[in-house]
Amino acid sequence: MYIVITGVTRGLGRALADWYIANGHTVAGCGRTGPEIFNLRFAHSEPNNFEVVDVTQPVRVGIWAERVLGYGVPDIVINNAAAMNAPAPLWEIPAEKFAQLIATNVTGVANVIRVFAPPMIARKSGAFVNFSSGWGRSVSRDVAPYCASKWAIEGLTKAFAEELPEGMAAVPLNPGVIDTAILRQCWGDGADGHAKPEEWAKLAAPFILKLGPKDNGRSVSVGGSGD
Ligand SMILES: NC(=O)c1ccc[n+]([C@@H]2O[C@H](COP(=O)([O-])OP(=O)(O)OC[C@H]3O[C@@H](n4cnc5c(N)ncnc54)[C@H](OP(=O)(O)O)[C@@H]3O)[C@@H](O)[C@H]2O)c1
Repeated sequence: MYIVITGVTRGLGRALADWYIANGHTVAGCGRTGPEIFNLRFAHSEPNNFEVVDVTQPVRVGIWAERVLGYGVPDIVINNAAAMNAPAPLWEIPAEKFAQLIATNVTGVANVIRVFAPPMIARKSGAFVNFSSGWGRSVSRDVAPYCASKWAIEGLTKAFAEELPEGMAAVPLNPGVIDTAILRQCWGDGADGHAKPEEWAKLAAPFILKLGPKDNGRSVSVGGSGD
């Protein structure tokens, strides 16, 4: 399968990219951290391909898509890239920080869908897996911007699912709780003891491969069924 993954420079996106390539799939990945993108390029030969792309920039995402589509039309697009706010009550979060988080977690997902949906719809096959969260289905104090963004992903994905032709899927996916930079940003050392991304990917990567039209528009969790 040809799999597009946003946010492959670390964390869950990186673990998924490594697992898919190790298991014979082809990955097109992006992220903003140049040195990590170059490491991925050196480690994995073509047709795997990696680019420095900020998903908040629609023109840049469009140029990236042209390169990715040069290798073929993807079978799966995983919208994984996201950011977490520094924990604080909503009224203490500066407007520009709030806007930046929404630009990444929500607008970035729409930017990626805008460029990959038309060729996949023309082929009438493929799946979009948009990373949600437990905080896309429940809430906690001090993470209101992140909650807002992940609840938005649930709604965006379910509406988009209704627009897809038969044979395709769009799925909001809660990955679970994994020890990554995002988790450490809100829980600090409380992240200790949670699954590491490489362990998680052994379950999550094959789970994602099985998502398809039967799951279109369903809220799904890694290792579970729809909620
Ligand atoms: N870890 C958990 O327990 C957990 C729980 C629920 C949901 N999630 C979700 O799982 C996904 C992955 O998170 P993670 O835990 O792996 O976090 P992470 O370790 O912080 O990784 C986030 C990735 O997104 C990329 N990214 C951020 N902003 C970007 C932008 N504007 N353009 C392109 N790439 C960008 C980062 O790369 P650069 O900085 O290089 O751009 C990085 O590769 C997220 O959607 C998150 O909300 C995670």
